[in-house]
This record gives sequence, C-alpha cells and structure tokens, in this order.
Amino acid sequence: MPGTSSDTLGYTRLMSSAPEDGLEDESGLKAPATTHSLRSRMLVSVLMTLLAIYAAAAFHLSVLSDSPLLFRPREIEARLRMALPSPNLDKGRDIMDKKNYKSPWMLFPGSMTRVNAAEPDMIYYSGASVVLSPTDSMIYHWRLNSTWPMCYITAWVSAAEDLIAAHKSYSSEGNVTAIEIWNLTSPDDSKTLKSMSWNTRPARVSLLGTVNFTSVKTQRGVEDLIGQELRAPTPRFGCLGDTKITVEVACTACRLEFDQIFSTPALGFELMQLG
Ligand SMILES: *[C@@H]1O[C@H](CO)[C@@H](O)[C@H](O)[C@H]1NC(C)=O
Ligand SMILES: *[C@@H]1O[C@H](CO)[C@@H](O)[C@H](O)[C@H]1NC(C)=O
Ligand SMILES: *[C@@H]1O[C@H](CO)[C@@H](O)[C@H](O)[C@H]1NC(C)=O
Ligand SMILES: *[C@@H]1O[C@H](CO)[C@@H](O)[C@H](O)[C@H]1NC(C)=O
Repeated sequence: MPGTSSDTLGYTRLMSSAPEDGLEDESGLKAPATTHSLRSRMLVSVLMTLLAIYAAAAFHLSVLSDSPLLFRPREIEARLRMALPSPNLDKGRDIMDKKNYKSPWMLFPGSMTRVNAAEPDMIYYSGASVVLSPTDSMIYHWRLNSTWPMCYITAWVSAAEDLIAAHKSYSSEGNVTAIEIWNLTSPDDSKTLKSMSWNTRPARVSLLGTVNFTSVKTQRGVEDLIGQELRAPTPRFGCLGDTKITVEVACTACRLEFDQIFSTPALGFELMQLG
C-alpha cells in the first residue's frame, strides 16, 4: 500500500489555521511528515472494516433466524461512532502539539492560477491544472497562521511507484531542477487571484529562490542536498503568525504539466512549515 514510506507526504485538514475572507478552501490543509497519522488512519480503517463485517454478520444472522439481533441498529451505530477517524486523528495531533514534536507541515495552496504571456488578456481560473513553459507561469497563494517561525516553498514529487499507484503523473521537458519562485505583492483581496490574466497578475517583488522538481526520494540520496531546506537557493521566509504569501512559479527553460490535487501522495509546489 502506498503511503507508508516517509517519502510520501499527503495533506490532511487541520482545524486550527486561519480561514480567509470566506474562502473555505483556504482553511488550512496540512499534513505531518510523519507516518504516525497515516498508520492511525490505516488502523482506524481496519477497525471500521471489522465493525462493518461484524454488523453485516449480525444483520445476516437476524435475517436467517428469528432470533433477536446481536446488536440493535442503534447500538451498532453507537459503536461505529466511536470509531470515527477524526477524533482519533485530532487526539494524535494534540499529543504531537503537547509534546512539541517538530516536523515540517505541508500546506496546500489556497489558489493556483495560470497566466500566459503569449495571450496576455486571456483570463484563467484557479484550479488543479498546472502549466509551466517559457511563456506560462503559475500564481500560487497561501494564507497561514503559523506558530512556527520558518517556512519554505518546495517542489514535492513523491516516489514514482507511489504516484503510479495513485494514478498521478506529470509531463516535463527541459531543465526542471531550477524552477524559479518569485515573491509577488499580495493583493488585499485574495479572491482576485482566483481569476487572472497575464496583464492583471500582481507585480514581481523579488526572486525568492529556486526549487527542484525531481523525486524527493532521489534527492534524499544526494548527499549535497541534505539540509537543502535551510539554505539557498531554497525559497525560505519567516512566517510566524498571520501570513499571506503570493508567488509566481516560472520556468524559462522547461515545460511542465500536471494536476495538483489535494490527495496523497503529494505532487506539486508546496508550502512547508519548519519548526
Ligand atoms: C492566529 O493564531 C493566534 C493563536 O493561535 C490567534 O490568537 C489569532 O487570532 C490568529 N489570527 C488569525 C488572523 O486567525
Ligand atoms: C539547470 O538550470 C540551472 C540554472 O540555470 C543550472 O544551474 C543547471 O546546471 C541546469 N541543469 C542542467 C542539467 O542543465
Ligand atoms: C514579498 O513582498 C512583499 C511586498 O513587498 C513583502 O511584504 C513580503 O515580506 C515579501 N515576502 C518575502 C517572503 O520576501
Ligand atoms: C535536483 O535533484 C537531483 C536529484 O533528483 C539532483 O541530482 C540535482 O543535483 C538537483 N539539482 C539541484 C539544482 O538541486
């Protein structure tokens, strides 16, 4: 089953981050880099399955004979309720928070919108489709309320076997090892980032750094890249408290296309929070 290796990082919903001006999809989508919650989620689904089998067997017995049900439906329901996954996950997270465990958290973008210099008045809408080329950039926006001081932006490409198993893929041409991340001015109303043309995109402020769109697993095997999150050219910035960040992802020497979807294993440009 994919999702058990530490190279696989998915997203889960975290309740405690800042919702933004009525944009529900920006209410904070995060995942711990540990396998802890994945394991507990798997354990919960095993429990759910066992309960479901038990409930089905009880129902079956009652159909076969006139004997009273082993559990009345309400009792089964009550038992199922105990096994709902989120309270257990929340408890796990509370323990992580209390014990002050530090691991990077991955935050799914609030918006991802294409802009195209070749068609400067064409308006694109925020969605999963990511297109980069010498004329196409993507404008990404995140809003977060972090208790951790440092964040960075990364390209997260899960291991090939995990992507294949999840029917995720990307197509690339050229050099994808130095994709540029530019800081942009964040507009007061982030909704304006949900539909944009090249001519209406926010202005560039400065180059924050570059990211390497290759398998995280392969990068882990390259000694020079160990700890790369903490040094240039990784785009890093302080993100304590209520923070808005809008960036342009640009690639002058590549073509890259994929869908960035809110599911495990992760594939795309991500904001990571460092402890
Ligand atoms: C950010 O979080 C802090 C502490 O959790 C809270 O006091 C503050 O109101 C939050 N800010 C926003 C904008 O949600
Ligand atoms: C990719 O581009 C970067 C930045 O221009 C450069 O440093 C690197 O050598 C290039 N890699 C390849 C394989 O061409
Ligand atoms: C990006 O630019 C804005 C506007 O100048 C600035 O307020 C913000 O601190 C910059 N962010 C980073 C991460 O450099
Ligand atoms: C990008 O990652 C590959 C491994 O996937 C590595 O060989 C290469 O040196 C990295 N390039 C940069 C610029 O970090």
